[in-house]
Amino acid sequence: MAHLQSTSMESNINVEADILHDSVNNSYTKNKKVFIESYGCAMNHSDSEIVASILAEEGYTNSSKVEEADLILLNTCSIRDKAEETIRHRIKDFKAMKRANRGLIIGVLGCMAERLKKKFLEEERLVDLVVGPDAYRSLPDLLYQVEGGEKGINVLLSREETYADISPVRLSSNGISAFISIMRGCDNMCSFCVVPFTRGRERSRDLFSILAEMQDLVEKGYKEVTLLGQNVDSYKWENPETKSVVTFAMLLEAVAKVDPNVRIRFSTSHPKDITDEVLFTMAAYDNICKYIHLPVQSGNSRILEMMNRTYDREWYIDKIDRIYEIMPDCTISSDMIAGFCSETEAEHQDTLSMIEYAKYSLSYTFYYSERPGTTAARKYPDDVPLDVKKRRLAEIIEVQRRVSHELNLLDLGKTFEVLIEGDSKKSDKDFSGRNSQNKMIIFPKMAGYKPGDYAQVKVLEVTSATLKGEINPH
Ligand code: SAH
Ligand code: SF4
Ligand code: F3S
Repeated sequence: MAHLQSTSMESNINVEADILHDSVNNSYTKNKKVFIESYGCAMNHSDSEIVASILAEEGYTNSSKVEEADLILLNTCSIRDKAEETIRHRIKDFKAMKRANRGLIIGVLGCMAERLKKKFLEEERLVDLVVGPDAYRSLPDLLYQVEGGEKGINVLLSREETYADISPVRLSSNGISAFISIMRGCDNMCSFCVVPFTRGRERSRDLFSILAEMQDLVEKGYKEVTLLGQNVDSYKWENPETKSVVTFAMLLEAVAKVDPNVRIRFSTSHPKDITDEVLFTMAAYDNICKYIHLPVQSGNSRILEMMNRTYDREWYIDKIDRIYEIMPDCTISSDMIAGFCSETEAEHQDTLSMIEYAKYSLSYTFYYSERPGTTAARKYPDDVPLDVKKRRLAEIIEVQRRVSHELNLLDLGKTFEVLIEGDSKKSDKDFSGRNSQNKMIIFPKMAGYKPGDYAQVKVLEVTSATLKGEINPH
């Protein structure tokens, strides 16, 4: 969610890790290699780390080379039609490999597995295994079944499963930033969204298991942790012994206190649930990053109502005002959908003006894609023509680009504390890292600084996407 909201990009990460595993008692899977490819949101990427951990127990080592895999797993996303299409194409890539190696197992995990269930096995004959997001503990049994020549499927959703006791294998990690999943599922039923169907009911993870994972990451030298959930602000966990209830604000504070030198981020916040208590907690702790991803989806009240977002334009604006009032240095980002059912030009203009009002530092933008089974698919015709959707989307992107650039210009000459993440993509002479506001800053390397260190960086140049600067050692 990178910024965890890489979520909404149908991004694809080939994950790799060195796992020291114990393959004793696992003769049937001894020395086998798994290749996991993850699509969709940060939650999915985080789930792949849980899957890797479950499979490591069975003697599977992670591999980044698909050619050497005995097991290929695609952790899939259903959020938009295009995301599903990408997966179907990817499965075809494995056809020749499967022909050459009969023993190769191909499995589909995640949201698309959950949405299509048995149909997936019928439609994609190459696939041996279909496992939904709440059923990963059954992977070893299902694999056993597949090795015996059957197909394996488990798409049961659960009201309790949080994988709290499973210690994730940190895949493709830079050793500096990590994710902690704090809840699963979503109860919101936004009318356009497939997630409540693919991820099931919302449930929060045991506070103590979250704190233990945090402590473990700190001991391993991680410097930044992102708390993950579809709707983190509705985190609510009741201590079974004391019956006291832990809210998201309380969790945030507890996590921030573990180590003041480790940054805390969180994603995603639903505007309806982010409370003053959360905002004051953010303001009170320097290590809680001053950045909120607060997707608006649309700037128009009629469309928001149809989307079942449970707030209107004015309510959202009040929330934005409150955030800047409590934390003037906070940045806010958003998700927006162009061309939702029946959206008029005037209503689209409301989304454009919201970008200006809210001063989003960045946005993840999409055109509406109807998802089977959702309320919108059942109730509202998908009647905005594709060319209009695409044009509106381009306008949203253009306004956002301009607003991001204007905001970045205000950062010229300022000095920020930056967590160095590694070499910049373009040059190994430069480092890149982010400030508390989640803005990427590129700056020349300097003796004495390495990835994982904090540096004071003065901004000297900006574009709409990045800041450039230099370390200010004093
Ligand atoms: N839980 C998060 C969002 C998860 S999905 C939230 O409530 O904000 C990530 C983004 O994908 C959403 O914010 C939305 O902008 C987009 N999205 C979801 N369903 C979509 C659809 N059917 N068509 C287009 N974009 C969609
Ligand atoms: Fe989907 Fe809405 Fe839940 Fe986000 S809050 S996952 S958009 S239903
Ligand atoms: Fe995430 Fe895509 Fe599922 S965005 S929750 S992987 S539908």
